[in-house]
Amino acid sequence: SARAVKQVVSPGQILEGVLLFQAVVENWENISNFQARPDDILIVTYPKAGTTWMQEIVDMILNDGDVEIRMRAPIHVRVPFLEWPPLMNEESGINMLSKMASPRVIKTHLSFHLMPKSFWEQNCKLIYVARNPKDSMVSYYHFDRMNLLKTAPESWEGYFQDFMQGNVTFGSWYDHVREFWEARKKHRMLYLFYEDMKEDPKREILKVMKFLEKELPDDVVDKIIHHTSFQMMKDNPMANYSSFPETIFKQSISSFMRKGVVGDWKKHFTVAQNEAFDEHYGAKMARTSLRFRMEI
Ligand code: A3P
Repeated sequence: SARAVKQVVSPGQILEGVLLFQAVVENWENISNFQARPDDILIVTYPKAGTTWMQEIVDMILNDGDVEIRMRAPIHVRVPFLEWPPLMNEESGINMLSKMASPRVIKTHLSFHLMPKSFWEQNCKLIYVARNPKDSMVSYYHFDRMNLLKTAPESWEGYFQDFMQGNVTFGSWYDHVREFWEARKKHRMLYLFYEDMKEDPKREILKVMKFLEKELPDDVVDKIIHHTSFQMMKDNPMANYSSFPETIFKQSISSFMRKGVVGDWKKHFTVAQNEAFDEHYGAKMARTSLRFRMEI
């Protein structure tokens, strides 16, 4: 039942400084010993940064913009979630990946220091998507209200504090975005921003194509931009998680494809919260060259 499942997932356990689902920690041997293949493509994010959006973009690019092929299966099957534990009728990410033909595209939310070493040994390509922390927080809050695997947030203020302290699943937003930023030049990594993707999807999609060494005619690129827009993905049953069990994602509480904009935080943050956040953020980000846009 969903309740029994909830007990294996929450409240979670800390592994090397990162709060993870209980079931992920229990399956850790298998996850950290994961065998990468040289042509694996990784999509890495802190939750709610636009992971699904990038999954859809990469899947469409690899399939030359074919709109039928991308309807072959839901996005979490086309691009498996590496650390997803075996729950209810859903297969574990590791199992799905072991049976998959190359080239595999793999989603993960693991922190840099928790990544299976095999990805570095095989020199896999990695696309990192980062999103500004205010919108990430708001998006994660609404997601945690509808994700029945987790205890629903008691209040927005409580969630606000927990997020700043890194007391949410997958740990500190700050650590996540900074670790990958510092590592970006030592690995085959493309580091992108949600805000840039919203501002100019074509420019960012062309970066992804170049990184994947894929050339496509202009009309195909336009087709990919169109089919990966927020509204098209919201209406696409193979992208909007409507095929995912209602006992896990209760979308009547909040849609997975919720708003898809930059700056929705302004409707949630109070003036006092915004001041407190900016001060905390300034201190946390003082020693990095990584910069975010809270609005575009
Ligand atoms: P909001 O909750 O702010 O709407 P993830 O896939 O990492 O879980 O991220 C989910 C967030 O990305 C949600 O943000 C969702 O609406 C947004 N999103 C998904 N597809 C998108 C798209 N095609 N364009 C813009 N935003 C998108």
